[in-house]
Amino acid sequence: MPTKEEMMKIEFSKQQNDDRFRPWFHFSPPSHWMNDPNGLVYYEGEYHLFYQHHPYGNKWGPMHWGHAVSQDMVHWRHEPIALFPDEHGAIFSGCCVVDWNNSSGLFEGSHGLVAIFTHADTCPKTGRPRQRQSLAYSSDKGRTWHKYEGNPVLTESDLIDFRDPKVFWHSQNERWVMAVVAGDHVRFYGSKNLLEWSLTGEFGHGEGSHDGVWECPDLFELPIDGSGRSKWVLIISIGDHPDYPEGSRTQYFIGEFDGNTFINDNPADHIQWLDYGRDNYAGVTWSDIPDADGRRVIIGWMSNWKYANETPTGDWRGAMTLPRVLSLTSRDEGILLIQKPVREMEKLRKESKSWNAILITPEAPFIQKMQDELLEIEAEMDVRSGSEIRVKIKSSGQSETIIGYDPERQWLYIDRTKSGVTDFHPSFPCNHGAKLVSEDGKIKLHIWLDRNAIEVYANDGLIAMTDQIFPDAPLDQIEISVKAGQYVLNSLHIHTLNSILIPGDSTEWESRRVEA
Ligand code: FRU
Repeated sequence: MPTKEEMMKIEFSKQQNDDRFRPWFHFSPPSHWMNDPNGLVYYEGEYHLFYQHHPYGNKWGPMHWGHAVSQDMVHWRHEPIALFPDEHGAIFSGCCVVDWNNSSGLFEGSHGLVAIFTHADTCPKTGRPRQRQSLAYSSDKGRTWHKYEGNPVLTESDLIDFRDPKVFWHSQNERWVMAVVAGDHVRFYGSKNLLEWSLTGEFGHGEGSHDGVWECPDLFELPIDGSGRSKWVLIISIGDHPDYPEGSRTQYFIGEFDGNTFINDNPADHIQWLDYGRDNYAGVTWSDIPDADGRRVIIGWMSNWKYANETPTGDWRGAMTLPRVLSLTSRDEGILLIQKPVREMEKLRKESKSWNAILITPEAPFIQKMQDELLEIEAEMDVRSGSEIRVKIKSSGQSETIIGYDPERQWLYIDRTKSGVTDFHPSFPCNHGAKLVSEDGKIKLHIWLDRNAIEVYANDGLIAMTDQIFPDAPLDQIEISVKAGQYVLNSLHIHTLNSILIPGDSTEWESRRVEA
């Protein structure tokens, strides 16, 4: 039998181990399971982030809405659980809006937050899964919530998959619009008061990718470059399916919204992916960011249903991507989404080092020893030499993650086959990528490295790739090498970053948590 001291040592090392893969500048839950971001809304100086949460286990289970708030989308404070399962079932994904004009009548002449979410249970008669849309409201900046007594507010008894409502105010038609998915398509409903909804349109049968069930829609309008024109963007996540090694992914459509339904600008078989990594799912955008700011910011769940329940993180599981600003650009291929981490991330920069015109040959790679684990790397590379370039992120142990670019194939990839702990699922160790065309013979990479993740943005956000990694030891060196010939790295900046946590101070991290 171990002594008390030995027990304490075991407990301590377990905690250390559990937190070994805790991200230090990506959001993660204080403990237990987390999946989709929910209820993203800006209200009275605070960004809210609710999330799918199982507070009693580190695997998916009865869903609650966890909650955190931030003033900059970078530093977060944990709040008590916002929504608990009730007589209508578990609380699946959904959104929040500010009911500024008290259209719902729930705020006695004032305004407040309304959460619109899916209640998930089973039909008492048949035992068949049932998903219905419901409301909760808060008059104290999201701190306490009341379920609406007329719940559910929207049911479709023929549909089994019917979930993840995203609501916005459509000013031209002066009504609320709800986008909600129904298996293989998205439906649009309209409402004057958030309480009564009627179907206005459907989109999606045979359009885009149907490699999995449709989930987590979002719909919003964005300007195109500085052209004065704009387009509507429809975001649709698609669930995991055993036939596809990629697992769960997110696609987007570009088109018009006429107030009733979405009209695709592209042919039905045209597929556009939001992220070419494996770990960016269920992303949706913040509601009510003030016009003076004007940004459309998305955040995704940084995992994949293929292996989300198995990742080696310990008593907590799940993290979010960085919050990213979305914009549209017009290219030869059509209108494309651009993603860039919010500028507030720059506040984390600690020390920066820069290099120019570095000549790299197979015999003389660029090597930089690192003491810090949290990094931002910006590189502009001349790729006309035609040979493959690799940025290797090496741990002090055996792990290495490679970001590579093959100019011949015009292919940008992440190779995480040797990235550390990979054996928890056969689909995890992989090499995957995206087509990336050089611009004036150059490519630009912006890489963010956290303790458990890597995000790569190429050519100013035209391509994004997000991957979890679980290295065997902290980062030790960055190596940039070339397979053959010689090659010039035009410019390189490496910034070390501060953590958003206070390392070792678990009380700070857990301080505002109330056990359910
Ligand atoms: C997406 C999803 C949603 C659902 C939620 C349940 O990851 O499957 O469709 O509402 O997760 O946790």
